Amino acid sequence: MRVYCAKDYNHASRVAANIISAQVIMKPDCVLGLATGSTPIGTYEELIRRYEQGDLDFSKVHSINLDEYRGLSPENDQSYRYFMNTHLFDSINIDKKNTYVPDGLEPDKDKACRDYEEIIKVHGGVDLQILGLGHNGHIGFNEPGSTFEKETHCVTLSDTTREANARFFNSMDEVPTEAYTMGIGSIMQAKKIVVIVTGEGKREIVKKAFQGPITPEVQASVLQLHSDVILVGDEAALAGF
Ligand code: F6R
Repeated sequence: MRVYCAKDYNHASRVAANIISAQVIMKPDCVLGLATGSTPIGTYEELIRRYEQGDLDFSKVHSINLDEYRGLSPENDQSYRYFMNTHLFDSINIDKKNTYVPDGLEPDKDKACRDYEEIIKVHGGVDLQILGLGHNGHIGFNEPGSTFEKETHCVTLSDTTREANARFFNSMDEVPTEAYTMGIGSIMQAKKIVVIVTGEGKREIVKKAFQGPITPEVQASVLQLHSDVILVGDEAALAGF
């Protein structure tokens, strides 16, 4: 694993955008694995800036997102599809038909998972996976537990995760209780992984995940077994790392 310690959030965002830009330039028809959450917003803003300057072309890129709340429509402003459209896709020249997010409205859970697995397979897996890190060590919505789930599955969100995400909703009651997430197996099959961690609040979990034992209790710890991971953090998150 390589560690890049950036000065602050903006610097970390530029570094992550550098890595994504290199991927898109080297392989214009690459498959990007994308994440939502607060962390990658700066990275996406930087990618948009570079696209507007004419330095990046996303016309042949495909993207596969990590996760989606179960029950939220793409038009719901808290859905991850809405997030991706507004924070990235609407502002670059990616073809929306080539962007995938699990279908939050599919009534049949198993079908939603099977369909998403098929999408990942048909595209030959992910070239570059972007990850944020949950306060409890989750990646995607793979929550602490007793196993590493291989494939896309439906999860019951932990209280910590629902509380962490409640800030985006009007009340705790509105925070969905379930979500679809890409499995750890699919994440681990990505050729290259960039984990972005910023802020003091992530200091403890980043140590646990990358310097502690590999355990499903800290799902991100499995990344220690991947051969091409870059951890991009800022000084606040990586202090003492
Ligand atoms: C989002 C996702 C989550 C977040 C994680 C960190 O698609 O899969 O695992 O990456 O919850 O979220 P932030 O960046 O808001 O701290």
